Amino acid sequence: MYTDPKTVKNQFKKSLDTYEKYAVVQSLAAEKLIDALPEENYSSILELGCGSGLLTKKLVQKISFQKYYANDIVDKSKVYIDKILNDYTFLGGSALRLNVNRQFNLIISNALFQWFDNLEKSLEYFKPYLAKDGTLAFTTFAPDNYKEIRTLTGLSLEYKSVNEIKKILEKNFEILTLESFEYTMHFKNPLEVLVHMKNTGVNALCSKPLSVKEVKVFCDRYKETYPDLSLTYSPIIAVAKLK
Ligand SMILES: C[S@@+](CC[C@H](N)C(=O)[O-])C[C@H]1O[C@@H](n2cnc3c(N)ncnc32)[C@H](O)[C@@H]1O
Repeated sequence: MYTDPKTVKNQFKKSLDTYEKYAVVQSLAAEKLIDALPEENYSSILELGCGSGLLTKKLVQKISFQKYYANDIVDKSKVYIDKILNDYTFLGGSALRLNVNRQFNLIISNALFQWFDNLEKSLEYFKPYLAKDGTLAFTTFAPDNYKEIRTLTGLSLEYKSVNEIKKILEKNFEILTLESFEYTMHFKNPLEVLVHMKNTGVNALCSKPLSVKEVKVFCDRYKETYPDLSLTYSPIIAVAKLK
């Protein structure tokens, strides 16, 4: 599915304040990603899609570094990162149009790469920004992610499987960690599912808001098809070193 960058930017901008309260699985994935990092002193780090700093906060407490660059397509994200880091550089704009002329020892990103239309091309794009022996660490999601939403609405990102990511990474990277886990959330009613999606920016899947009638149809079908009101997340954790 093609994702409209303007919609993605707008929905994430709107969700900045609520994101961390609702992003339970993204928080778990961030912790697993940090735990999987090789223990090194990273002289320069580039974080892509930093958002409100959910990963940033956890990362800077756990690792040592000299220079930190934080990117997000939403410029307002800088307001949040300013509260976490005193000395850093904010790079506004798409992660796929970086305006920076240096290399990094670590490029890291939590819960962004699933929004890229072509993962393989995106990883090619990041390669020149990695220093020799540089580490690329990211989380994304496997095809079962949000399977309930795909079944009910036909809307889904083009998630890659662990095997597909393995094949892409192997071309240029030595894989250090590549694993996935599943986490099922349960809600009190289907409206809560929609609110959860809105508050974590995932409603960027949809270019315009649902009408009252569409919401009712969605809720009725959700209850019918998934009486336990479950929503599946399937994060993938990937850490790899440039060959
Ligand atoms: C699901 S949030 C993840 C936020 C944060 N990384 C975390 O640890 O939870 C995705 C973030 O990526 C940003 N984003 C989406 N598309 C982007 C792009 N092409 N380039 C840079 N940032 C992007 C969004 O604005 C949002 O802040």
